[in-house]
Amino acid sequence: MDFTDQRLSYEKGELDQNDIPASPLELLKTWMSQALEQKVQEPYAMSLATCGTDMKPSVRIVLLREITDTGIIFYTNYESAKGEDIKENPNAEVLFFWHELERQVRISGAIAKIAADKSAAYFQKRPHDSQVGAWVSEPQSGEVVNRAVMEERFEQLKTDYPENVQVPTPKFWGGYEITIEKIEFWQGRANRMHDRIVYTKGDDADWSTKRLLP
Ligand SMILES: Cc1cc2nc3c(=O)[nH]c(=O)nc-3n(C[C@H](O)[C@H](O)[C@H](O)COP(=O)(O)O)c2cc1C
Repeated sequence: MDFTDQRLSYEKGELDQNDIPASPLELLKTWMSQALEQKVQEPYAMSLATCGTDMKPSVRIVLLREITDTGIIFYTNYESAKGEDIKENPNAEVLFFWHELERQVRISGAIAKIAADKSAAYFQKRPHDSQVGAWVSEPQSGEVVNRAVMEERFEQLKTDYPENVQVPTPKFWGGYEITIEKIEFWQGRANRMHDRIVYTKGDDADWSTKRLLP
């Protein structure tokens, strides 16, 4: 397949360095609100890149669950392949692409587990069957011989934990927060003249910004 004749002109918006908030978290929240208003499907789905000591990057989608004052939180299985990478190397990068807005946001920073009680509070808010499903994935990213084995495990767990019984929060499951150190906002423009503004956190915790060539 050849896609070399396929191209779009991006003309939906612009990003002016003189017209952005001092904190990138404010801009991230504004862009996320606009993505929700524009009915972007799952705008909180983000590609998460990690890299363990084998130096081979891995990328997968996870769901952003919270923007805090310092960063972003998602939930996963701590014993998954990504969990192993993070144990070895606590640097991560995430990427959002909102085609409907012709925008990309790229965030990098140090990643760390959030407090266990906060993870448990979120786990207990999830639908009952999703809670059961989290127990099936032990360990997430481990090999399973076939789907039937997974389904049997799911049904057994549903018998052990019927709807009226609380599913315990697995020790191997919880949130990670990426503390934002650098964040780039990309707005597509015509003729490849895209706007790219990057915020970097200085030693004094203040943010500096610069425009990058597209
Ligand atoms: C739309 C979408 C949302 C997802 N959300 C999550 C999530 O929030 N947490 C998670 O652990 N995996 C999520 N996944 C599955 C991951 O992409 C991945 O398959 C899984 O976490 C195992 O990754 P790993 O083997 O690299 O650890 C999602 C996948 C998709 C396509």
